[in-house]
Amino acid sequence: MATIQLIHGPNLNLLGSREPVIYGHTGLAEIEQRCSTAATARGFKLQSMQSNAEHELIEAVQQTAATDVGFIVINPAAFTHTSVALRDALAAVGLPFIEVHLSNVFAREPFRAESYFSDLAVGVISGLGHQGYEYAVEWAAQYLVAAERDN
Ligand code: DQA
Repeated sequence: MATIQLIHGPNLNLLGSREPVIYGHTGLAEIEQRCSTAATARGFKLQSMQSNAEHELIEAVQQTAATDVGFIVINPAAFTHTSVALRDALAAVGLPFIEVHLSNVFAREPFRAESYFSDLAVGVISGLGHQGYEYAVEWAAQYLVAAERDN
């Protein structure tokens, strides 16, 4: 069974205390635990990493190529709106991925509506808070089950 890789961009280590009106009160550890439970319930493993450094996120994406990771769920955070390099890493690896945002980026400042990732993503979840991650992981698990069945 493949692994689902969760990747969190800059400042998401502060979830729980960071602008809770926008991002909610749930911390990253709890989000990861909920996602792990969702993946395990469907027979998959979940790996999770967070970094504030662009190059570490790029390396995490690149490293999936040498592993059994079959799907990526990523919140690139502020790099959503700036990082051609992280986009290129996802394109290079070629794994299916879902782009997740806790907030509805389309209802905020205009620059947040621009993403370097959405056109490459299988799908985008924006504005459903921490539950967006769980929905993404559940969808990824169903995708992987179907992919393994069809192989
Ligand atoms: C975010 C939205 C981004 O615009 C912002 O820079 C973040 C978090 C979200 O999850 O809503 O850091 O990706």
